[in-house]
Amino acid sequence: MTGQPVPVVIDCDTGVDDALALLFAVRHPGLDLRAVTCVAGNTDVDQVVRNTLTVLEQAGAGDVPVARGARRPLIEPARGAHHVHGRDGMGDLGLPAPRRRPVDVDAVALLRREILVSDRPVTLVPTAPLTNIALLLRTHPEVTGNIERIVFMGGAVAAGNATAVAEFNVWHDPEAAAILLTAEVPMTMYGLDVFERVVVPAADVRRLRESAEPGARLAGRLLSHRDPATYQAPSDALGDVCGGLGDAGAVCSVADPAGLATQRLPVEVNLAPGPARGQTVVDRRPRPGEAELHGEMREQPLVDVALDVDVERYVKLYLTTVENEARAGAS
Ligand code: BDR
Ligand code: CA
Repeated sequence: MTGQPVPVVIDCDTGVDDALALLFAVRHPGLDLRAVTCVAGNTDVDQVVRNTLTVLEQAGAGDVPVARGARRPLIEPARGAHHVHGRDGMGDLGLPAPRRRPVDVDAVALLRREILVSDRPVTLVPTAPLTNIALLLRTHPEVTGNIERIVFMGGAVAAGNATAVAEFNVWHDPEAAAILLTAEVPMTMYGLDVFERVVVPAADVRRLRESAEPGARLAGRLLSHRDPATYQAPSDALGDVCGGLGDAGAVCSVADPAGLATQRLPVEVNLAPGPARGQTVVDRRPRPGEAELHGEMREQPLVDVALDVDVERYVKLYLTTVENEARAGAS
């Protein structure tokens, strides 16, 4: 990457893989992490704030402003993912409580401020339910004038995870995701189709775990997190497991867009009650169908949907970023 670092704001629900994303964003020299906003998702929003502050401190980025956002989705109650992310929402690693506190404005106010004050258009990276972003877009629509792109982790072209067809972040607050799609700014959907593929090999996870540097060691511990009741990851001869980068892959794609293959496609969020609620319906047809010919379809926003990812490239990018910075810090 050449030139000035990309101004980035992350909206997250930290979250094991959100924590991996924050570590990467802090350490990549091509990214300038301006702020982090928190929303209910994997766990309640107060715990998300604590987890986020702790990760930033461990990563040596204690001064990045962090704000608390929405406590629940626009319509439905909050429904956490503790079975995936542990009781504390971040793998129950026993990390110290943060010394810092969040800023005294809420997430929407911090997002507005950081986006409008930036000398260059900001890349917004939501790795969580889209509640804060929907509230921002409806309260301060002028922010879109200074957004370069929104790269969101959410949705799926093929299978879901929260339901057979819906991905967790979109399923948690489908109305908010539908509002996001109306933003009329360039947008990338980093969905489950690529999210689940970027996995760090067991030997690398072990090396990170054994690092003397707190940030790299934290990355290794996060990548090792598993709920033994629900997850059976392949392990190597030493019994170590590989670990998915999850949300961190979306941030890798901001630092290195060439590693992601996307196609600009119409996307709609299914808001109807029932088994398909929260599904991102991605239209991959090469030509209009009968529904369009009979005037029965509304035009949908176009989104750059991630269809393929260079797994090796992003794993290498992640490791060199987190470890190189660790070495630089130690010398
Ligand atoms: C998404 O849901 C959360 O559990 C993860 O942090 C990720 O953002 C994956 O569906
Ligand atoms: Ca997340």
